[in-house]
Amino acid sequence: MSSPPVLPDGWTLVALDTVGSTNDEAARLAEAGAPEGTVVWSREQTGGRGRRGRRWSSPVGNLYTSTILRPACGAPQAAELGFVAALAVADMVPADRQVRVKWPNDVLVDGGKIAGILLESAVGDGGRVLHVVAGIGVNVGFAPQLPEMRYPGAALGGTVEAALEKLTGALARRLAGWRREGFAAVRANWLAQAGPLGAEVDVRLGEGLVRGRFAGLDPEGALLLDTADGPRRIVSGELLGRAA
Ligand code: BTN
Repeated sequence: MSSPPVLPDGWTLVALDTVGSTNDEAARLAEAGAPEGTVVWSREQTGGRGRRGRRWSSPVGNLYTSTILRPACGAPQAAELGFVAALAVADMVPADRQVRVKWPNDVLVDGGKIAGILLESAVGDGGRVLHVVAGIGVNVGFAPQLPEMRYPGAALGGTVEAALEKLTGALARRLAGWRREGFAAVRANWLAQAGPLGAEVDVRLGEGLVRGRFAGLDPEGALLLDTADGPRRIVSGELLGRAA
């Protein structure tokens, strides 16, 4: 693609060849007053960051992008944006491939992890969210395989520019849906693309592991599990690569 990627109306692209982390650059711009819809995109990252302090391998060939969002809400509600972002990534996947979302915000295609999502927020006085940086890395040209990965990798194919256009278009649509219809609709869409209820799952909680059967998502986005010791509601953790 020779022309620059086209973003949704009113969104702005900051295109870089290299950067430490697009999330850090987007946070810097947000603090300087950049509006919602500012998208930082870099062809590579030298210090790409994943969740829980992990690194995100970021050589040229995949998509690394961070979008500034300014939701008018508090931190608990802003966390819903992780599900919104996961649905936007799922929207990028062609219909002939099997897509599945995994709590809290992984997206698997044909059983392999295709993207990573790292939401980082700045919170002001009274708990009001000042901005959210939605950092999204999508495997486009290749699928990194690192020892610390919980799932095998998968790649979308196509060009990074086309992936950026699809992702930002989907994110703008999903965000508008979230603002219009609230989290209930997001939750219903997410559940429709999640693993089957009753599937056996493992969840890592800090150093511990909880085993149970997937029982859905509650209205606040917490994972519901049926365990041998009874029902559990999990607010923060990571699903591991079994079933569901
Ligand atoms: C995960 O651990 O699954 C989340 C990975 C998030 C990676 C993306 S790439 C763009 C943005 N910049 C970063 O440093 N991280 C996110």
